Amino acid sequence: MARADGAPGAAGGTGRGSADSSAGRGEAAPARGSRAGRVVVVGSLNMDLVVRVERHPRPGETVMGRGHASHPGGKGANQALAAARLGASVAMVGRVGDDDHGRALLASLRAGGVDVGAVLTGTQPTGVAFIQVDGAGQNSIVVSPGANAEVTPSDVAGLGLRGAAVVMLQLEVPLETVLAAARAGRAAGAAVLLNAAPARPLAGEELADVTHLLVNEHEAAALLGADAAAVIADPVAAARRLTAVAPVAVVTLGAAGAAWAERGGGEGRQPAFAVEVVDTTAAGDAFAGALAARLAAGERDLAAAVRYACAAGSLATTRAGAQPSLPTGGEVEALLAGA
Ligand SMILES: Nc1ncnc2c1ncn2[C@@H]1O[C@H](COP(=O)(O)OP(=O)(O)O)[C@@H](O)[C@H]1O
Ligand SMILES: [Mg+2]
Repeated sequence: MARADGAPGAAGGTGRGSADSSAGRGEAAPARGSRAGRVVVVGSLNMDLVVRVERHPRPGETVMGRGHASHPGGKGANQALAAARLGASVAMVGRVGDDDHGRALLASLRAGGVDVGAVLTGTQPTGVAFIQVDGAGQNSIVVSPGANAEVTPSDVAGLGLRGAAVVMLQLEVPLETVLAAARAGRAAGAAVLLNAAPARPLAGEELADVTHLLVNEHEAAALLGADAAAVIADPVAAARRLTAVAPVAVVTLGAAGAAWAERGGGEGRQPAFAVEVVDTTAAGDAFAGALAARLAAGERDLAAAVRYACAAGSLATTRAGAQPSLPTGGEVEALLAGA
């Protein structure tokens, strides 16, 4: 396939080539650091259009917002940037539209040190997320996937996931692409971290290549066929049950922190860190990116990795928006040191 930058590109795909006009890099190569610790994210890029409301509207109701802002987002892009900001070498695989939102998303990732050479241009507009945040910092979100729906298994094939320490996935691009990336990651010997969000039921067999399953209480309930109240009542038991699906399972619980379990191994709880909550958008993405960064750095102690990820998630709630709220490694270390 011809790439926009004229470099010999990744094979496959139906788009018009790399959306990264600044590229000279042909592959999902490390942005910095050594190849051994590379995180490759296959996932979504969305522009977040955020409005603050006193309370969320009910169906048929109109409420007045207080100003609005647009922020680069999408679970894939957020998690890529989260990991990069914490010092990981990160490459992003996905699609944007040929529009200003897409260009802004690429610029944001590039500024954060993420390699966007494998982000292709789709035929649909860049994905958009419409986000409402209420006075308590609680959000509700509508996503229009646009070009994210055009990320295909052939976008992933031939990228050479070999060399990736962690392949990080979410459910905002087509499931067949997620599963193909999981398979390729596994074949390349990488850890395959699936943040199974947004919530949907999945057959256990579909997740055979996932080594690390990360879900919040609602996503855990969807996978277990339980309700969220049952997960909240005993999150360690929920994580333990999820180890039937993947060898490592982590359940995040908002202000209640996280629970984790390892197949044939340990389990535990990690409280969240006490912070002044402004906006919970991207708390889960900060947690996911941090977990990937710790795994890529060779962390074997799951309790320590979860504690680090909880600190990153808690810090992300102290600032507005998605990508602007993602903490640096220094901020996480400082919170851990002070706790
Ligand atoms: N209100 C909060 N106070 C402190 N930490 C929080 C709060 N909400 C989220 N976090 C942190 O962020 C992590 C992820 O948040 P969570 O809401 O579980 O994810 P998601 O955004 O996927 O629903 C939590 O495990 C916790 O560490
Ligand atoms: Mg939550």
